[in-house]
Amino acid sequence: MTARPSDHGSENLSDRSVFPTLSPGALHVWRVRLDLPSDEVQRLSDRLSNDERCRAKRFVRNEGCRHYTVAHAALRTIVGGYLNLEPSHVSLTVRPGGKPELSPGVGAIPLRFNLSHSGELAMLAVAWDREVGVDVERVRPTVEAENIIRRFFAPGEQSAWLATSDSQRLAAFFRAWTRKEAYLKARGAGLAGGLDRFEVSLEPDRPARVLRGEEPWAQWPLYDVSPGDGYTAACMIEPPSDAPTVYDWPIR
Ligand SMILES: CC(C)(COP(=O)(O)OP(=O)(O)OC[C@H]1O[C@@H](n2cnc3c(N)ncnc32)[C@H](O)[C@@H]1OP(=O)(O)O)[C@@H](O)C(=O)NCCC(=O)NCCS
Repeated sequence: MTARPSDHGSENLSDRSVFPTLSPGALHVWRVRLDLPSDEVQRLSDRLSNDERCRAKRFVRNEGCRHYTVAHAALRTIVGGYLNLEPSHVSLTVRPGGKPELSPGVGAIPLRFNLSHSGELAMLAVAWDREVGVDVERVRPTVEAENIIRRFFAPGEQSAWLATSDSQRLAAFFRAWTRKEAYLKARGAGLAGGLDRFEVSLEPDRPARVLRGEEPWAQWPLYDVSPGDGYTAACMIEPPSDAPTVYDWPIR
């Protein structure tokens, strides 16, 4: 049995034989449903490291703990699937700037990944020896888009957003937000990367692109990925790379 892009069917949370093969140049983006039943979440927590279990317990809301547990169990299961390792044997570290990565020497292939979560969805981007960044956001109509754009976005993005029709502005804001986060996360610098030091496209009729930025990231391809209704997502990868293929987890 092989995982097909966005596959649906009988559930299989852990069978490594179902994982797709990652070739050099491939970009796989996994959509992870976080709203799993409690007994499943409990079972998945066995896959976390002690540090992750401690972190999960620190969430004030039970939902935060459950979502964190599923997202990190999925990360370990998916990464372990590519590397033929048990989820709990996937050893992770954090590089300066905060970006998680595989510990040196783990796995037979130079796999890189990046995780994002929002609402009841996480996305995990996986690539072969290329920097990658992903961001997913639940579209929240209450967001103070104009305030955020005026304070943090680049001047060109502010003008492009103001030129967008009222009915398109919320979608344009989340397109820009996820594309900017994907850039920062591919770069690995977090917000220290400076949101106004680069500019992305946001208009409804323009493809995802970095319009202005620092080298080499200004040349890296940006892609919108389809997270499903009520969410927006984007990812960025170090070239050369294929366009993303999207998979669902749990694999069905
Ligand atoms: C990491 C960061 C870049 C993104 O955080 P975020 O959008 O809140 O959260 P996401 O779910 O997309 O990403 C979090 C995950 O990214 C990964 N991550 C953490 N630091 C990272 C870094 N420096 N680079 C890349 N990935 C990072 C981790 O896996 C983390 O998951 P975990 O906390 O469960 O371990 C962070 O710097 C941040 O605080 N961003 C603020 C968001 C914001 O205000 N954006 C303005 C809109 S343009």
